[in-house]
Amino acid sequence: MSTYTTAWKSPSNIALVKYWGKKPNDVQIPSNASISFTLNNCATTTTLTYEEQSTLEVKVLLEGKEEPSFVPKIEQFLKRIAHIFPFVTTGKYIIDTSNSFPHSSGIASSASGMSALSLCICDIALEKGLLEEADFLQTASELARLGSGSASRSVYGPLGVWGEHSDFAGSSDNFAIAYDNVAEVFKSYCDTILLVHKGQKTVSSTVGHGLIDDNPYATARFAQAQENMTAMKAILKSGDLDGFINLVESEALTLHSLMMSSNPYFILMKSETLKVIEAIWAKREKDGVKWCFTLDAGANVHFLYPQADKEAAQAFIETELKQYCENGAYIHDEVGMGAKRI
Ligand code: PMV
Repeated sequence: MSTYTTAWKSPSNIALVKYWGKKPNDVQIPSNASISFTLNNCATTTTLTYEEQSTLEVKVLLEGKEEPSFVPKIEQFLKRIAHIFPFVTTGKYIIDTSNSFPHSSGIASSASGMSALSLCICDIALEKGLLEEADFLQTASELARLGSGSASRSVYGPLGVWGEHSDFAGSSDNFAIAYDNVAEVFKSYCDTILLVHKGQKTVSSTVGHGLIDDNPYATARFAQAQENMTAMKAILKSGDLDGFINLVESEALTLHSLMMSSNPYFILMKSETLKVIEAIWAKREKDGVKWCFTLDAGANVHFLYPQADKEAAQAFIETELKQYCENGAYIHDEVGMGAKRI
């Protein structure tokens, strides 16, 4: 083999129990376990052309246009995974990547992007005889983790669990595992991403994770997250929507309260984020609907509802929630089955 081309489409994911904080003396090892819905529509497609050569050369194309600003991050990633696949420190890489969601929509592409690239690299390793088919997804998840922690969960669907936890057999800090021991309702759950603010985040998640080390609430948070994983497991299995709403919203607000209690403190929510939350709470109070929200490390709101409520929930978005979105923009998504080779 001298030149090899492969392509993968990998989705984004949204955590239900959040990862926020890594172990200080390790590379990308989480301080607590996390679980996420894998999404279906928000995805990155990456075509990787790899050519054997004695030096390292990386070229990145984003939506067909050369993007030199991505090269240092990719090179750093390749160095980080070199203990698993030493061949990656040399070679010519042409990484042609595009996102299904609009660029600068405020949706992080690191989870989908890093998992798509990791899967492509595993294809090269497979071709070189350095990887067995049976270890493929686990290895891809481990590589993805080294690129961006939450990316480890994007490889699989319908849900992914990352981080060691005694209630989740086979769970590991090094890679995520697929999780599907859930009631039917959760296998097709809907997530409409309300694009409250499309701009760049003021504090990146890398910086945010680092600030947890001095946060006085950190130890309590890590213990709480482990307990929430146990509670979430039972909720997902039984299909308890009230329990789901309660835990998912609490996790979202806890994540943001950790940001507010960091030093330096910061707020990623915008006033529209709170308006959306209030509108969802008012609707739930008035009509008893089982709809809720979660947040990732940004201002956008993930509006979660069962597939059976799709029509009513989407009508509610149009009449009540869209007004708080920048240029009225949102993206309908739902739980998906993970990455695909294309
Ligand atoms: O994968 P990172 O380093 O971008 O961190 C993601 C952290 C959250 O999205 C806020 C939570 C999570 O578990 O995905």
